[in-house]
Amino acid sequence: MRITILCENTVGRLVGLGEHGFSAFIETDQGNYLFDTGSGRSVIKNSLELSKDLQSIKNIFLSHGHYDHSGGLPEVLKLRGKVDVHAHPHIFLDRVHVIKEDGKETRRFVGLPFKRSYLESLGANFILNKDFIEIEKGIFLTGEVPRKTSFEKPDSRLFSEIDGKTNLDIFSDDQSLILNTEKGLILILGCAHSGMINIINHVIHKTGEEKFFAILGGAHLDFLTPEQLEESIKALKKINIEKIGACHCTGMRAAFRLHQEFGERFFYGHVGSTLEI
Ligand SMILES: [Fe+2]
Ligand SMILES: [Fe+2]
Repeated sequence: MRITILCENTVGRLVGLGEHGFSAFIETDQGNYLFDTGSGRSVIKNSLELSKDLQSIKNIFLSHGHYDHSGGLPEVLKLRGKVDVHAHPHIFLDRVHVIKEDGKETRRFVGLPFKRSYLESLGANFILNKDFIEIEKGIFLTGEVPRKTSFEKPDSRLFSEIDGKTNLDIFSDDQSLILNTEKGLILILGCAHSGMINIINHVIHKTGEEKFFAILGGAHLDFLTPEQLEESIKALKKINIEKIGACHCTGMRAAFRLHQEFGERFFYGHVGSTLEI
């Protein structure tokens, strides 16, 4: 099994483009899969430069409806044609990012930037589900993640619209992918809007497995206070994890802290990073 980071904010090898986004290409004995698509700026270019054939993917998984994870979907569909896209029904919500600076408010649309009908016309067969589910042998989606920790709070800059009302985004659609391997679980996070520790606890509860060979992807730690970040790291250190390949919305400050705590077990998941079993 090999997982390659296809889209990410930074470039670590001499190939590919960086962008604010995330996507991972997964190669297994059962076939190839795509988890998230980046924003659309780099997924095709990086797949070509990293020799990952997007026409070969069996399924697409979307972690949530933010543009930086779903915006590359049309480009992938134009290459791949008809394909199952697994996600939560809330990926289609309207979403905004609100920044208040010097008494001025700036709003930016950050949801899925395409209509469902357009994506379906390009071949997307949406399979929308809210529950923990085994997609194929040993490959699971978390479904909705219960919020249980006291220190993982919603990001106060992110909003969504449900039934015409704009509220703080609770990200019911945030889900992560689990691969069950002989070395332990591999957990791939999109943005971990449910809270990384909430997600890990949910995965342990649902799978009955406590050993993680690797946790990869966006841990969304950059907006936390230093105290909240330390709580998350303290909780993470109690979990049996061999490798942490955090990146994207983890943020550099938190990534440095994770490196400090986990030493050689930590690596930054930039474009072109691979994890092999
Ligand atoms: Fe993100
Ligand atoms: Fe996100």
